[in-house]
Amino acid sequence: MNPIELCTERLRLRLWRDSDMAPFAALNADPVVTEYLPGPFSRADSDALVARCRDHFDRHGFGPWAVEIPGVVSFAGFIGLSIPTFEAHFTPCVEVGWRLARECWGAGYATEGAVAALKAGFEQLGLEEIVSFTVPENRRSRAVMERLGMRRNPGDDFDHPSLPEGHMLRPHVLYRIRGVDRR
Ligand SMILES: CC(C)(COP(=O)(O)OP(=O)(O)OC[C@H]1O[C@@H](n2cnc3c(N)ncnc32)[C@H](O)[C@@H]1OP(=O)(O)O)[C@@H](O)C(=O)NCCC(=O)NCCS
Repeated sequence: MNPIELCTERLRLRLWRDSDMAPFAALNADPVVTEYLPGPFSRADSDALVARCRDHFDRHGFGPWAVEIPGVVSFAGFIGLSIPTFEAHFTPCVEVGWRLARECWGAGYATEGAVAALKAGFEQLGLEEIVSFTVPENRRSRAVMERLGMRRNPGDDFDHPSLPEGHMLRPHVLYRIRGVDRR
């Protein structure tokens, strides 16, 4: 299966290159970027995540795409679709997610890329529903979910099973969107 790559007005959502690994490690070492993630991430952790993203494309033909902003930067982070490996009340599912370098925040890139990712998920992959989740305090990420037209039902809130009980980042909010409800 040929992996999907996407273009938007300002972005290229493409497969990962070896040259993305150093800038990805740099953004994963930024404590502001990882404020709501179970970091900090070492270079080895960051490289292992790239390997998992590549493996996801090999197995499923889609995944968290490397984001290129032509004319601005060759690698800004990732935006994309992935299948969570943990079990929760809403799994199995496909998740839309994003992580961008701080210099690329505040320009609408995450929402623009995620709109294209959702479109691919519904129209090319034939998914019925896509979810997204984060900690309640991650206002910027929740704002992306809301701009996408995703909706939260507080009854869907969950404790992330990969984190130990009592961990600050364990409680999560869940947002959902169905293909038929897309704006
Ligand atoms: C989550 C994250 C991707 C959101 O980034 P973001 O830049 O806030 O989101 P968008 O790209 O959609 O940009 C929206 C902002 O750009 C502004 N903007 C500027 N130009 C714009 C344009 N041409 N089009 C749309 N929005 C534009 C919007 O007004 C909005 O600004 P605001 O935050 O002041 O309201 C980013 O904060 C991040 O990488 N965080 C760390 C990783 C993380 O937590 N990931 C999620 C884990 S669940």
